[in-house]
Amino acid sequence: MNRKVRLGVAVCVSMLLAAFLVVATHADDGATYVGAAKCKMCHNKADEGQVWTKWQESKHAKAFATLKTDEAKAVAEKAGVATAPSEAPECLRCHVTAYEKDKPLPADIKMEDGVQCESCHGPESAHFAAAKKALADKSIPQVLSGAPKEETCKKCHNPESPTYKEFNFKSFSEKIAHPNPLRKAPKS
Ligand code: HEC
Ligand code: HEC
Ligand code: HEC
Ligand code: HEC
Repeated sequence: MNRKVRLGVAVCVSMLLAAFLVVATHADDGATYVGAAKCKMCHNKADEGQVWTKWQESKHAKAFATLKTDEAKAVAEKAGVATAPSEAPECLRCHVTAYEKDKPLPADIKMEDGVQCESCHGPESAHFAAAKKALADKSIPQVLSGAPKEETCKKCHNPESPTYKEFNFKSFSEKIAHPNPLRKAPKS
């Protein structure tokens, strides 16, 4: 190989690597949970769709509160769960982000916040750090999340839910949609 070709190969390889870095996803970044409160500062602008407020007003945000209702008590009784639903691992595992039986919740996750952003988008510490840095130097965050997949929803939307309603990825996604109109606008 002559010099020019070798340089060309090196440039291509580093461009490929850069492409991989940009699309880094949660599977490989070892990210941890930061909690929905930290998303609000950047994802709640009026002209960007008020994503945070949309979530806060959604049933997902109220999924823990639901477990304290009489309806939940009746559901638990029918399912043969003797503990109060808001303390029962059998219910909390789908009604609270990152809940795991016999494990403490991640420090920044509160039960009261129910099913938060990171249940669908995955742990966001890497995006959070990259976005804060990008905000400071007015660039674009180098770590994004990628769109949640049907499998992610089905970890909770499955027949193990005592109130299961047939899950349809498309129509259910439309019900919880929180698009950023600026992002969808054609780029000039
Ligand atoms: C310091 C600012 C900042 C914080 C804090 C922040 N983000 Fe972002 N985020 C951005 C920017 C900028 C973008 C790119 C533009 C856009 O899509 O709004 C983005 C994009 C995204 C996207 C779309 C990316 C994709 O792959 O499609 C998701 C999802 C997201 N953020 C989730 C979160 C969640 C969840 C939190 C809280 C845990 C959070 N962000 C916290 C700035 C931030
Ligand atoms: C961590 C578990 C979990 C994940 C993951 C999850 N959900 Fe849910 N979802 C729930 C629970 C629990 C409720 C019921 C909340 C309540 O009524 O208190 C719910 C309710 C809903 C509802 C009905 C509420 C409404 O506003 O009409 C829709 C639609 C929905 N989810 C769509 C989705 C979609 C789409 C995904 C994936 C992108 C998803 N969910 C991922 C647990 C989850
Ligand atoms: C129940 C699952 C679920 C929850 C909870 C959730 N999201 Fe999303 N989010 C989605 C789905 C599905 C999409 C659509 C991805 C696509 O474009 O196909 C999305 C898209 C986004 C986008 C990109 C919007 C765009 O126009 O491209 C951002 C930013 C975002 N979410 C941030 C958040 C933040 C911040 C929270 C919490 C305050 C949150 N999401 C809570 C499932 C969820
Ligand atoms: C496998 C995940 C999962 C488990 C386990 C689970 N839930 Fe849910 N829960 C959901 C989802 C998803 C919804 C939204 C409706 C559905 O099931 O499609 C929901 C909705 C509800 C609702 C709202 C009523 C409705 O029809 O939307 C109540 C009340 C409820 N759950 C109580 C409980 C109780 C009590 C337990 C424990 C005995 C429990 N859930 C265990 C996932 C789960």
